[in-house]
Amino acid sequence: MTIRTAVAADKPGWVDLWQGYLTFYGSAIGPEVTETTWSRITDPIVPVFTRLAIVGDKPVGFATCILHPRTWAIEPACYLEDLFVDETMRGRGIGRRLIDDLIAMGQRDGWTNLYWHTNSGNETARRLYDRYDKADDFVRYRLPLKG
Ligand SMILES: CC(C)(COP(=O)(O)OP(=O)(O)OC[C@H]1O[C@@H](n2cnc3c(N)ncnc32)[C@H](O)[C@@H]1OP(=O)(O)O)[C@@H](O)C(=O)NCCC(=O)NCCS
Repeated sequence: MTIRTAVAADKPGWVDLWQGYLTFYGSAIGPEVTETTWSRITDPIVPVFTRLAIVGDKPVGFATCILHPRTWAIEPACYLEDLFVDETMRGRGIGRRLIDDLIAMGQRDGWTNLYWHTNSGNETARRLYDRYDKADDFVRYRLPLKG
């Protein structure tokens, strides 16, 4: 397995995985959101990027991140927004390798930290995440602002 940054030619493979991710979350976002997200991922000006796990020549998992400036540091922080591994490929360490890859990128590029959220009941994901650190005690407030 290799891990690399997604490029334009990866679109069909990424869309298949993305649909699996949306199904996992029971989300019905419109195709225009998928299109916009993909164009952001592949636009070098936008600080959104995807690392793909590739087996053979097929993408089997992804980590999508937003690198953003901070007020409390000069260096950026990295928000891991989406992590997904194809259902048939789980439990083989691919999720772990995707996170390890981001840690290595961040150490190389000087990010202050890598962070993410998950549902408290997502036990499979939390089993993986708990190997890195304990969850902190912040709670999330999230106000819907759109009609
Ligand atoms: C969370 C997720 C990315 C983990 O990917 P993964 O490649 O299976 O992760 P890993 O193999 O590196 O490790 C995951 C842990 O769960 C176990 N695991 C995950 N899926 C498994 C499966 N189908 N069968 C057996 N074990 C499984 C692994 O053994 C490992 O636990 P361990 O280290 O204590 O043995 C993947 O389960 C997934 O895509 N889930 C749906 C989307 C999701 O929840 N994303 C995270 C949202 S924040």
